Amino acid sequence: MENKIVLRDVSKTFVKRNGGAKENRVDALKDVSLEVADQEFVSIVGPSGCGKTTLLRIIDGLIPYDRGEITINGRPVGAPAQDRGMVFQTFGLLPWRTVADNVGIGLEISGMELQKRKPIVQRWIEVVGLAGFESHYPHELSGGMQQRVGLARVLAINPAVILMDEPFGALDAQTRELMQEELLRIWNQEKKTVIFITHSIDEAVYLSDRVIVMSARPGQIAEVLNVRLKRPRWNYDVRGTPEFTELRAHIWKMLRQDRAGVAAPPGD
Ligand SMILES: Nc1ncnc2c1ncn2[C@@H]1O[C@H](COP(=O)(O)OP(=O)(O)OP(=O)(O)O)[C@@H](O)[C@H]1O
Ligand SMILES: [Mg+2]
Repeated sequence: MENKIVLRDVSKTFVKRNGGAKENRVDALKDVSLEVADQEFVSIVGPSGCGKTTLLRIIDGLIPYDRGEITINGRPVGAPAQDRGMVFQTFGLLPWRTVADNVGIGLEISGMELQKRKPIVQRWIEVVGLAGFESHYPHELSGGMQQRVGLARVLAINPAVILMDEPFGALDAQTRELMQEELLRIWNQEKKTVIFITHSIDEAVYLSDRVIVMSARPGQIAEVLNVRLKRPRWNYDVRGTPEFTELRAHIWKMLRQDRAGVAAPPGD
């Protein structure tokens, strides 16, 4: 099944009433158009507050958008559904549930009985390297392990589209690299479409087929870069190649320019 994501001129303004008639409007996204191909891995980078999380939550169906159109596989995006899964930066685990019960939660909600869930849950626990920790509670795990639980929970519902919001932001550098490799292996095996938000330019380039650079508010797509580095990328020193270095420098420069623009005083 094809799982193409299409966004056309998607805009979102948050309106907050500060009592009385006074309104506080934040234009979070303005005319964002983007196509993500079936099984493509796309990363989004951009300054803090430019609307990355908002965009992902809109694609997941967690919040409504004001204008534009979003379709997955030709169907308009409505409420959250099992064809999409979101991995949050803060893991979003339930502290009173064991690893196995956290991983199985999506299946449980969908009404699958325990005996059917069990082997699926076990498989994903093994894939993310948590075998032996099935009965542990989140507080008994390291940050990296909790993040794996969050990933396994999404993989268990077998969504065609995985949305990841800075999933590795809280990890130490080494764990982060391991998780990146694991994610690429899983993506390669399971043929998912991935949209991945990160503040790490290296991470974006390393993982992606394309990197989307967003500009500061209102969030717009400033540039789309193709990453033509060959795969699998864990087999060689991809970060040491000239292509990698060039792409990184280019994105770095774009983000710096944007920052300079934001910092400039009004009317300047
Ligand atoms: N629920 C909300 N109500 C009002 N304003 C919001 C809401 N969610 C986000 N915003 C505003 O929309 C803008 C974009 O926020 P968003 O969280 O999408 O940014 P981001 O790119 O994910 O930033 P970061 O890199 O820091 O995570 C911000 O100005 C934020 O204050
Ligand atoms: Mg965010």
